[in-house]
Amino acid sequence: MKVGNLDIGNKLFLAPMAEVTDSSFRKICKEMGAGITFTQMVSAEGVIKNNFETLRHFSFNRSEKPIGVQVLGNDPEILYEAAKEISKHKPDLIDLNCGCPVEKVCSKNMGASLLDDPKTIGKLVRKMVDGSNGVPISVKIRLGKDRSRINVFDNAKAIQDNGASLIFVHARTRADKYDTNADWTWLKKVKETVTIPVVGNGSMFSPGDIKEMIDSTGCDSAMIARGALGNPFIFSRFNALMETGIDPGEPDSSVVSKTVLQHINNLENEFGEFIALDKAKKHSIWYFKSHSGVKFLLDRVFSIKNLTDLRTLITEHADNILHTPINIDEHAIIHKKFQRKVLFWLAEENANVSG
Ligand SMILES: Cc1cc2nc3c(=O)[nH]c(=O)nc-3n(C[C@H](O)[C@H](O)[C@H](O)COP(=O)(O)O)c2cc1C
Repeated sequence: MKVGNLDIGNKLFLAPMAEVTDSSFRKICKEMGAGITFTQMVSAEGVIKNNFETLRHFSFNRSEKPIGVQVLGNDPEILYEAAKEISKHKPDLIDLNCGCPVEKVCSKNMGASLLDDPKTIGKLVRKMVDGSNGVPISVKIRLGKDRSRINVFDNAKAIQDNGASLIFVHARTRADKYDTNADWTWLKKVKETVTIPVVGNGSMFSPGDIKEMIDSTGCDSAMIARGALGNPFIFSRFNALMETGIDPGEPDSSVVSKTVLQHINNLENEFGEFIALDKAKKHSIWYFKSHSGVKFLLDRVFSIKNLTDLRTLITEHADNILHTPINIDEHAIIHKKFQRKVLFWLAEENANVSG
């Protein structure tokens, strides 16, 4: 599929994820074959005020392209200026967040609360298109406020009619948050409503899920969020599936540990040891969640005090479990827990939208 002048072929999008899609993780996903990655969501007001944290969150190295930057806002003039400012950094896409369900965001009439008003979304898109110096504008939406108020078609049309190049549809409502399975049947109907590319999002945890979503809806591509946590291999596996018809399957623990060690090095370079350590522990658990012995790892990882010891633990753990297959029932329980637990970003204290 094409995003502006960029053709990403059959490849996938890494979703924007607060506290996750930093440069370290983006690099890993790109190396694994993601078609395009996203920085973390930033406040449009923060962008135009040069807020230090905001600038840090959307900065990227040119070698990371293709890349998108996601903004949160509701004021047309501020979004115009923010798009203008962000376009100077030459991302491949600037996205408006209309999907965040966090109360602190919605009570300011931003994120998913914008879904109630397609006209306003249209106005905001128009201003962003005017300001972005030709960088394509996209919008990430949900199906609507709740199951009885699904207005995804009106929003999709307003987005298209005002000049956006692409729509991401998270196939849940604002009220669903993350508690239900995404309902992909709506994606097919959105795809039939607009002519700009539609990218489906929600509940894809394996290359097979992704193929099923695309085949059943006709979406132009898929955006992967939780399915990529500790599992950047989903991108290379999906690309292999598209090229050869065969999914190579879960990598063994030696491949996983090599990737974790590389991820830890990236984090140390990006943040320094003190901040990198907590992030590295979180990712390490995610990487091994589909392997045997994850409880053993959990028990040990949180008492680790430095990156050297973490690297040793990861290497030894991967060696120990190399030939131990995971119990399928245990895997299913862990997978369910993971889907819920990983939603720390919904905690109010993480919803920092100040300018
Ligand atoms: C840790 C985490 C952080 C997220 N941060 C953002 C964000 O900043 N912007 C956004 O549009 N969506 C965010 N999301 C939502 C995802 O992009 C995605 O829409 C959602 O998780 C559904 O996809 P999934 O079922 O594949 O996880 C976040 C999700 C998670 C799990």
